[in-house]
Amino acid sequence: MPDDRLNQITALGGAVVVLTGAGVSAESGVPTFRGEDGLWRTYRAEDLATPHAFAADPHLVWEWYQWRRELVAACRPNPAHEFIARLEREHGGEFLLVTQNVDGLHRLAGSEKLVEVHGNLWKVGCTSCGRSREDRTVPFPELPPRCDECGGLLRPGVVWFGEALPEAPLARALAAAERCELMLVVGTSAVVYPVAYLPQLARRAGAHVIEVNSDETPLTPLVDESWRGKAGEVLGKRL
Ligand code: OAD
Repeated sequence: MPDDRLNQITALGGAVVVLTGAGVSAESGVPTFRGEDGLWRTYRAEDLATPHAFAADPHLVWEWYQWRRELVAACRPNPAHEFIARLEREHGGEFLLVTQNVDGLHRLAGSEKLVEVHGNLWKVGCTSCGRSREDRTVPFPELPPRCDECGGLLRPGVVWFGEALPEAPLARALAAAERCELMLVVGTSAVVYPVAYLPQLARRAGAHVIEVNSDETPLTPLVDESWRGKAGEVLGKRL
């Protein structure tokens, strides 16, 4: 195990935040959004991931989410997820994983202290009665799926463009970013706000920020260390 700032800070029980994006799940087979084969290269977010798109064509939007649920259901955590879960388990100090991912792979790898600031593909919410619950049905027998309680239209439990992030998880993430001594930023293009603000906040508050990414991002010039490469390989070496 290398003797570097990550190990030094965790050995001393310093507060740690890990922030992840789609890149952490890429080696598990989950497509990213903005990479070469990224989802936003093929699909238009405006047609599929906005409240307006859902109001206009809930069936189309659900087809897309159903396809993603089927795809993710066949994916397993990779060594990057495993490393992050192990860091949480073995670290004595404060720890929070903030993920933008909706695939649920961190939890599957054993992460428990986590906030999913963009929601979760396995959650659904009723647009009529407001009930929200976990639902792992793949595929749904009928699209769009309906609420068991009131028959209302269900929506995916994810945050769409133009919507506010869930208040409590975001507040937890902001507070943790301000307090942490080390932030590990893994596999995010760091262009979607407010989450992209978290590493800047941490840096300004004096944290040591390490970026793990296969490419440069707008964050790269601002961080203390860049670990260039695939997250599963770079972090897997530390398992
Ligand atoms: P992006 O697709 O924007 O960025 C993925 C990042 O991961 C890029 O910087 C890649 O260079 C990097 N990457 C790709 N493969 C990698 C690997 N194997 N190891 C390490 N890095 C790798 O995904 P996000 O930053 O997560 O929002 O996107 C942020 C948000 O935009 C998403 O949560 C989603 C999307 O629209 C919502 O759905 C609300």
